[in-house]
Amino acid sequence: MMQKKSQKNYNQSKSLLYQIKPNFGKNIKKSLIDYVKGDNWITEYKFTEKFENEFAKFTNSKHCICFPNGTITMSSVLDCLDLSKNSEVLVSNYTMVATANVVKFSRLKVKLVDISNKDLCMCPKDLLKKISSKTKAVIYTQMNGRIGQINKIKEICKKKNLILIEDAAHAIGSYNRNKHAGNLGIAASFSFSMPKLITMGQGGAIITNNSHLAKKLRLYKNFGRKFSGEDVHNHLGYNFKITDMQSVLGLGQLKIIKSLIEKKKKIFKRYQRNLKNNSKIVLFNFKKNETPWSVDIYFDGVRKIKKILEKNKILTRYVYPPLNSQKIYKEFKNLPVSTYFCKRGLWLPSSINIKNKDIDRVCKILNQNIC
Ligand SMILES: Cc1ncc(COP(=O)(O)O)c(C=O)c1O
Repeated sequence: MMQKKSQKNYNQSKSLLYQIKPNFGKNIKKSLIDYVKGDNWITEYKFTEKFENEFAKFTNSKHCICFPNGTITMSSVLDCLDLSKNSEVLVSNYTMVATANVVKFSRLKVKLVDISNKDLCMCPKDLLKKISSKTKAVIYTQMNGRIGQINKIKEICKKKNLILIEDAAHAIGSYNRNKHAGNLGIAASFSFSMPKLITMGQGGAIITNNSHLAKKLRLYKNFGRKFSGEDVHNHLGYNFKITDMQSVLGLGQLKIIKSLIEKKKKIFKRYQRNLKNNSKIVLFNFKKNETPWSVDIYFDGVRKIKKILEKNKILTRYVYPPLNSQKIYKEFKNLPVSTYFCKRGLWLPSSINIKNKDIDRVCKILNQNIC
């Protein structure tokens, strides 16, 4: 008995607590095995069609079109909008590099906008300052699942005649008032990469209520042809199809999406309760209708704390560095809010199946060392 107990402790101390680890329940694994065992097409077909219909229903949008990832989604939207060469597209300085890179790949000009210190999303005031006669579009990121001030951003876009695109990669389960994220602009991009709330390993989708754009995107992702197998190519297009195996995984998670959302909210609340008395840690709240993607905290001395956690077999991730700290975006200056927070941010372990005792353990170390 004694031996068993110590063995258990040993195993626990050995096991790594990941920042995010995918967790497919038995049913999802079984559905993938059944799919592989069955007489199926593997390529993008009926299951992808079903996933697209179900995801459109879940987000309450007219169209959903799957893509291999949440980068190509945004590139494709920009390409299909046919913006004139050198048009400016404004992007938040606190987002994943993909949001800005797609602008460059589409031969457009990126301009970076600072974030708000209320919600870490694009700051409407700074957006207004950055708009010029060349500005044609804004890509808005719901950073970490926070909706931010997108209604104000939408108003500005309307007034200034700018196209709004949403990078909703983090925003599955986040609602703006009662509308799922992604319904305010012309189109929104979702990512289904490994750490996302719905993961296909890799994958992405665009939702849009614009039927003309949806039609163009479907042609664009399928070599410019209407139907696979019929080689009439009236348009220029890529091959950006996915596989039905990915969609089987996606469908399995969509079935249980409500419980996944609830779990993420509970994880955040437990961290918040445990850390709320620590005045050195800044924890931005989530509104009731927002789903935290990962738990993000901001404090001085982030590198030291990351190392201490690692020694305790707890893996975390620095939040995205400010884009203008990257070589390829270094020409952009004077973005003080994003510079301040991005350099102090850490994503804490936030896997769906994280145990309460692990959250408590992480918080204990944080409270002991950030003081
Ligand atoms: C905000 C944001 N946008 C876009 C992407 C790119 O998505 P993908 O990895 O599916 O290409 C990511 C990926 O993490 C992201 O976090």
